[in-house]
Amino acid sequence: MKTVLITGGASGIGLATAKRMAKSMRVIIVDRDGARAAEAAQALSASGASAFAYGADVTKADQIAAMMEQAAHEAGPIHAMFCNAGVSIKEPVHKISEANWDLMIKTHVKGVFLCTKAVLPQMCERREGAIVTTGSDYSICGKADGASYAAAKTAIYSLTKSLALEFAPFGIRCNSVGPGPIETPMLRAGRTEEEWAPLRAARAERVPMGRLGQPEEVAAVVDFLLSDRSSYITGQIIHPNGAQISW
Ligand code: NAI
Repeated sequence: MKTVLITGGASGIGLATAKRMAKSMRVIIVDRDGARAAEAAQALSASGASAFAYGADVTKADQIAAMMEQAAHEAGPIHAMFCNAGVSIKEPVHKISEANWDLMIKTHVKGVFLCTKAVLPQMCERREGAIVTTGSDYSICGKADGASYAAAKTAIYSLTKSLALEFAPFGIRCNSVGPGPIETPMLRAGRTEEEWAPLRAARAERVPMGRLGQPEEVAAVVDFLLSDRSSYITGQIIHPNGAQISW
C-alpha cells in the first residue's frame, strides 16, 4: 500500500483529501493542531483505513525533521505529499505588521520548502514520487487587502514549477492546486451561520458558477494529481474555482 502525507490535514481541504485518499492509500495527517490531527486519524482508522497523525508546525525545521523520522519508522516510505497547511490574514498593506508578513511567508513558502526538502531524498532514491502544493486563484491574480497571502501563494506556485523542473529527471512530479473560494473553516473565519449566510451569498455571486466550492471538490483534483492518472502532468497549477479566474 502506498502512503500519502498531508499537511494541514486536520481541517478543511486537507481533511477532505485525507478522507478521500484513505480509501486507497495509507494516510499521514500532519497539523500544528496535533489533537485534531489525532482525532481525524482515529476516525479514519475506525472506518478501516490505515492512518497516522503527527502534531508538527511546518515552519519549524526541527519539528518537520522529527516528524519525518518518526513517520518513516512507524508508517514506512512516503510516496506522495500534499503540502497544504495554510493561514489567511486580510489587512491593507500599510497595516501589515512585520510579524504577520513573516508568518504568511513562513507558513506557506518556508513550510513547502521544509516539507519537500525532507521528503525528496527518499523519493529521489526510489525515483518516483508526486507532490501537490496548495496555491490559490490569488497565486495568479493578486488580492486587495491580502497582499501577504497572495505574494506567498504566488511564491508557492513558482517554487512548485522549480521543483517540477529540478526533479523531473528523478521521476518526481510536482503540481499545484489553486482553489477559488472553498467553504472551509478558513473562509468562514469563525463566523456564526447567521453572520456567514449573507457573506456566503455575496461571495457566491462573484463566482460564474454561482456557488462556493466544497473541500471535496479540491480533494478530487489533488487525488488525481497525486495518482498515476496524471503521469505526464508536472509543473502545472489546476484551479478548482467555478471559473472565478481563468487564464
Ligand atoms: P483550514 O483552516 O480549514 O485548514 C488549514 C489547516 O492548516 C488547519 O488544520 C491548521 O491547523 C493547519 N495549519 C496552519 N498553519 C500550520 C502550520 N504552521 N503547521 C501545520 N499546520 C498548520 O483552511 P483550508 O481552507 O482548508 O485551507 C487549506 C489550504 O488551502 C491553505 O493553504 C489555504 O491557503 C488554501 N486555500 C484555501 C481556500 C479557501 O477558500 N478555503 C482558497 C484557496 C486556497
